[in-house]
Amino acid sequence: MPFYSEKVMEHFQNPRNVGEIKDADGVGEVGNPVCGDMMTFYIKVKDDKIEDVKFKTFGCGAAIAVSSMVSEMAKGKTIDDVKKITNDMVAKELGGLPSHKMHCSNLGADALHKAIDAYLEKKGK
Ligand code: FES
Repeated sequence: MPFYSEKVMEHFQNPRNVGEIKDADGVGEVGNPVCGDMMTFYIKVKDDKIEDVKFKTFGCGAAIAVSSMVSEMAKGKTIDDVKKITNDMVAKELGGLPSHKMHCSNLGADALHKAIDAYLEKKGK
């Protein structure tokens, strides 16, 4: 079996939703102190739904693939549904990750949830 699943490779080579939202409703940033990788998610919310999502990831291939997958899983979903996305779900959607790369997948949903928390806080919820 290759090191990474085909899906991981595909998202790594062709990541979706890369970039930044200048007037984002919420921004979430997480980093891994061990490898030094950083991930930032930007969300735009309309009618309680994630209207747009973008990310910037300074990290390994797995972290980039995870960010791309998380952004696809979140787009168009309600805040409540996006809150239910777990790191495990993301890794599964990607066809699994090597065990020593699981920490990379943990950044994805965490960064997205942080962006949602920032949005909710801004709204006073
Ligand atoms: Fe750190 Fe992948 S090696 S996020």
